[in-house]
Parts: sequence; structure tokens; C-alpha cells
Amino acid sequence: MRFDIITIFPEIFGSVFSAGIIKKALERDLVEIHVHNLRDYALDKHRQVDDRPYGGGEGMVLKPEPLFTAVENIRADEKQPVYLLSPQGRRFDYRLGEELAGQSQIILICGRYEGVDERVIEYLITEEISVGDFVLTGGESAAIVVVEAVSRFVPGVVGKMDSVRHDSFAEGLLDFPHYTRPRVFKGMRVPGVLFSGDHEKIAHWRRKRSIEKTWLRRQDMLERRELSLEDKKILEEIQRERKGR
Ligand SMILES: C[S@@+](CC[C@H](N)C(=O)[O-])C[C@H]1O[C@@H](n2cnc3c(N)ncnc32)[C@H](O)[C@@H]1O
Repeated sequence: MRFDIITIFPEIFGSVFSAGIIKKALERDLVEIHVHNLRDYALDKHRQVDDRPYGGGEGMVLKPEPLFTAVENIRADEKQPVYLLSPQGRRFDYRLGEELAGQSQIILICGRYEGVDERVIEYLITEEISVGDFVLTGGESAAIVVVEAVSRFVPGVVGKMDSVRHDSFAEGLLDFPHYTRPRVFKGMRVPGVLFSGDHEKIAHWRRKRSIEKTWLRRQDMLERRELSLEDKKILEEIQRERKGR
């Protein structure tokens, strides 16, 4: 799977993919990340990529020609999707990440200033992607979020696919709590069930904590998902326990 990021600030990506899981994925050729300087696709001698908005007003707008030329040069074929990072886009979430992971090439355009010329949105890109209801100064940090979250779905990137299956949102639930050594730290104890050696009990405890966290923090997620009979029983048990407190 290949990511192509188009930006006027390629230096932002200097070290961000050179550590941890993404670094290993790059070394093992599981993913490719190419960062392109938009200025390289500007045709005039000043390599101008932005200009003042028609109609007047504050700020600058990214010009259409360099963006169209960049995409034409980078796209492996017409079918490859092109995404613009934008606060006006479809909200990025677990499901969209999983959906994008099915593509062989993903082109991400990072906006800056007031954004990009509207003709880019109308005629060039496949979809706009937002990482949340707030406004960043540029699309670069949003592109990093997308690359990281999508890469996790590429087989082999996360050593154990099992840990991806248990990640928050994977099953419409938040992840269960994790503990490591020491067993007791400043009087705070790790739950005893985790040393029981009883795998069924541990699995049940984890499921219960996962449902509990989701119910306490994200009831909207529980409403969107059909609970199994077993999960319904667990939820009722949690609700009874909490009432009795
Ligand atoms: C200052 S913003 C422009 C905001 C634009 N004037 C608006 O209000 O929709 C500059 C660039 O940052 C990126 N950006 C800002 N917020 C974002 C968000 N929540 N998600 C994704 N990209 C974002 C976009 O690429 C955008 O073109």
C-alpha cells in the first residue's frame, strides 16, 4: 500500500515516520510513504503555489494548476482515489480507516492558508477528509493521523493482528484496561483475575471492562451496535453492580 502526500511543507514529515511501527512497516516494504513538495509542480519561475482570493478578503488560496499537475504525475492510474484533508470533510474514524486500507494507492493533499481553490474540490479529488470539528493550520498533521490509522490495517504492520482486533472501535467497543509489572505500585493493585491463569475468566473480565468503559464513556457506540445475548447479560450485570454502589 502506497501513500502519496502533497504538501508545501515536506519538512514537517522529516522524522515523523522514522520511529516505531511505521518505521518497521517502511523497512519491510509493507507500506510506502512518498512526500511531494507542491512547489515542484508549480510551472512559473517563482514556483508560486498560492495566490490572493478573487473577490477580496484575507489570506491566500492554494492555486489549482500545481495541484492538478501533481496529482496527474503521482497517480498510478485514474482509478486511484485522491483525498483532501479539510475541516469540511467526512469525519475520519475507524471504519473509514479500514475502508481506505483496501486501496493500493492513497493520495493525500494537505491544504494551507484559507484552503484550496474550489475547482480542486469539484473536479480533482474523490473526497474530503476531516480529523475533527476544529481547524488546524494545515493538513499535514491530519495526513499523519490518516497514514498511521490506515497503516494499522495493512496485514503485518501491527505484529499481532489480535491486538488490532481488540483496539478501541474494532468491535464497536472501547478497549479493555491493560496492566503490566509491578503487581503493586504505590499501593495500587493490578486486578487479581489477571494472575488467575484461567483464560476464560480473564476473557470474561476483559469483555466486561470493555463493555463497561463503552457504556460509561460512549453510550452512542453501544446504541449503534447490536449486543449479543452474552454481552447484554454482562451489561445488565454492570448496571446492577453500579446501582448497588
Ligand atoms: C486554516 S485551514 C483552512 C480552513 C478553511 N478556511 C475552512 O474554514 O474550512 C488550512 C488547511 O488545514 C487543513 N485542516 C484544517 N483543519 C482540518 C481538519 N479538522 N481536518 C483535516 N484537515 C484540516 C486543511 O487542509 C485546510 O485546507
